[in-house]
Amino acid sequence: MASLRLIPLLLSALLVAAQNEAPSASVAISATITAAASSTSSALPPPPTESTYYVIPISPVAFTPLPSPSNPGPIPGVFPSAVPNNPPPVSSDPTLVPDFAPAWTVAWEKAKAKIAGFTLEEKVNVTTGVGWMNGRCVGNIPPVYPIDGRGWPGLCLEDSPLGVRYTNFVTAFPAGINTAATWNRALIRLRGIYMGQEFVGKGVHVQLGPMMNLGKNAQGGRNWEGFGAEPFLAGEAAYETILGMQQSGVQACAKHYINNEQEFDRTQESSNVDDRTEHEIYGHPFMRSVMAGVASVMCSYNLINDTYACENDRTLNQILKYEYGFQGYIQSDWSATHSTMGATAGLDMTMPGDIAFGSNTSYFGYNLTQFVLNGTIQESRLDDMATRIVAAWYLLGQDAPTFPNVSFNAFYPLDPTQNENIDVMADHYTVVHDIGAASTILLKNVNNTLPLKGVRSIAMIGSDAGPDLRGPNGYTDRGGDDGVLAMGWGSGTDNFPWLISPLEAIQARARQDHTLVSWFLDDFDYAGVATAVQGQEMAIVFVNSDSGEGYITVDGNEGDRKNLTAWHGGDELILTVAANNNNTVVVVHSVGPLIIEPWVDHPNITAILWAGVPGQEVGNSLVSILYGVWNPTGRLPYTIAKNASDYPSQLILGGTPQDILSINYTQGLFIDYRWFDAQNITPRYEFGYGLSYSTFKYSNVEVTKVYNADDAYDAELIANWEAGKPNPLTVGSTTALWLHTPAYQVSFDVTNTGDYYGGEIPQLYVHFPPESGEPPQVLKGFTNMNLVPGETQRGTITLSRYSLSIWDIASQGWLKPSGTITFTVGASSRDPRLHGTFPL
Ligand code: BGC
Repeated sequence: MASLRLIPLLLSALLVAAQNEAPSASVAISATITAAASSTSSALPPPPTESTYYVIPISPVAFTPLPSPSNPGPIPGVFPSAVPNNPPPVSSDPTLVPDFAPAWTVAWEKAKAKIAGFTLEEKVNVTTGVGWMNGRCVGNIPPVYPIDGRGWPGLCLEDSPLGVRYTNFVTAFPAGINTAATWNRALIRLRGIYMGQEFVGKGVHVQLGPMMNLGKNAQGGRNWEGFGAEPFLAGEAAYETILGMQQSGVQACAKHYINNEQEFDRTQESSNVDDRTEHEIYGHPFMRSVMAGVASVMCSYNLINDTYACENDRTLNQILKYEYGFQGYIQSDWSATHSTMGATAGLDMTMPGDIAFGSNTSYFGYNLTQFVLNGTIQESRLDDMATRIVAAWYLLGQDAPTFPNVSFNAFYPLDPTQNENIDVMADHYTVVHDIGAASTILLKNVNNTLPLKGVRSIAMIGSDAGPDLRGPNGYTDRGGDDGVLAMGWGSGTDNFPWLISPLEAIQARARQDHTLVSWFLDDFDYAGVATAVQGQEMAIVFVNSDSGEGYITVDGNEGDRKNLTAWHGGDELILTVAANNNNTVVVVHSVGPLIIEPWVDHPNITAILWAGVPGQEVGNSLVSILYGVWNPTGRLPYTIAKNASDYPSQLILGGTPQDILSINYTQGLFIDYRWFDAQNITPRYEFGYGLSYSTFKYSNVEVTKVYNADDAYDAELIANWEAGKPNPLTVGSTTALWLHTPAYQVSFDVTNTGDYYGGEIPQLYVHFPPESGEPPQVLKGFTNMNLVPGETQRGTITLSRYSLSIWDIASQGWLKPSGTITFTVGASSRDPRLHGTFPL
């Protein structure tokens, strides 16, 4: 017994040691990898810092498993009981709320039976990764033997949110930010389905995505992995992506939970966020993930309100598991576990398993076993952890004998004995092309410069027009930028099978019209550029801006972007082209917003295309837009400001390696357009903006109340809500069906008044009464409509009670604020076309 009592002390010593190590993932992959610097820049004001943070005391903690959320039984036609391989059909205006509770219950029963046959050590093994680079995938849970008998085969966890990382014959899908920019649920779902097929095809159990942090800072290094700066849009994209991925049989992992909004000091910053902002803004996409039946959630590197995310009882136990009713498991980000006691705060699995990479120590493993043996952590909690993990495996049907074995080794891709080089790409390039085109945003189009009609000569200018000097995968984890940019850098990447540059794609297309194509790819030889564009009917100039994860620094950008200007002197390049050619088209491949004031209004710039980071078919997608094969439907998933200082939030830099950096979310609910609206700041291009080659007229708006078969089950809760009264906080109260089933339907006519067939994306913004404390308007719905010239269609956007609620801190519930709630339907956040009032 005496030796067992020593363990907690040992653990606190380890905890202090680990905390000083500032672990960061994926080190030692290549010489280009460096740790993010933490030195204070003399130009910056002294940063707010902290020297202490909350450490969970090592003392016995009681545990009672959470019951499953109690929803009423399935009601046909309203919310059919969903299983991952049979989700509700995709719709541009979803009205069916899936109820995964019955499927979870079945999976939990199977998992409980399986776990019952495991020893204590075996249960611990289910929760503990094997250690960095000790398995074939970036994360590995070891098998319990005999695999075919009472045991279990373990898990392969692999990046990334856009494709299978560290292997070959896979598709490089468009990044999350482009996926969101489509505002097209069908395409988002299809990408999820195809990605899931590729992961399963390679034998991966858990795809480490989607990523849904919110782009609070325009310069945030990993914003491109996610779905933009708007909770509702990000939530819809997360929801559809997860439904798609899990339909194909891979477990999704919603990450990074939560408030991991910058790369600088990501392991040593405390995001200090008020409860309402957490619920309404940053939590929303994770809540939608739970509603999509997500199998796992990854807790992030940072602290939230002074407590590390992976041992944060408030965010893990209270919000995610209790309030959202999450039935799956929480895994740590790579080395984001800070204690064994984290298990009592809700952490179920530690990844990659070791405390620091290669340390051969773990907060779980042996230590967790000892904590259970000495009664500090109850065995029922360990059972709950293991059950959640194995239940997710059953939920996805991964117990099927046909589930493939892992057929690659992420760390030794050239070892022929461990890499079967299985081709899982099928024809998935088609959706890469379509999303690439559908996410390209037409910002400016003077006198219908685009689409191209029989243009006689085009000069293609800038390195971003052509191929990368080292080939598509020449930089480790894509940490370099010398050709067309189709992906950011870091763990959120995969290998390009090929990379069709704009130059290649346009030349293939030029044959049809006998267009002369010339190019000049040197970004800095301005005299050469001037000569190259003179006398050409059109010049297309390409610029880009890159960012990524903080373990790689590119051109002084330590993950986050140093600034919001185009790379490689892009502004000067554009101005040089525009000065020498009066039909200059600008194409931007960027991970996020840029300040484009130096050139946006230049009279010789006749069109601007904002193409994001669209994946392997980047050139083909662009050609489809240029030639009008795809009429632009992309809409900005963030605001493009006139000045970087107009944004409500900036990176917080500085501090010393010992400090915990305080990042106070002082802007609260007012991120992105919400801030610009409230502060009356005119953006350059507002959130939701994007032109089409056609024009659309909106008319005849009507709003009706919707009555559902489930209303009777929850009559009391609904009556309370309608009276503006709080409802009790219970398990799953935030994801309860009565709150999310259709409650109001807004319908309207849209007419294509232009000359081209095309898509329009009507957006619905709710305007809460000023006393509610809400921003002037918040996006709560959108739909897609495709119309031929002259055609009128009736569109609908459905809202739930949740859409019209705010988070009430006092009652810990969703409340309808008192007063009149109105809405606008329009073509962007600053282009309202129709107005109405909800019949409350
Ligand atoms: C990243 C995660 C990633 C993990 C495994 C971490 O550094 O933050 O997003 O899934 O590494 O590669």
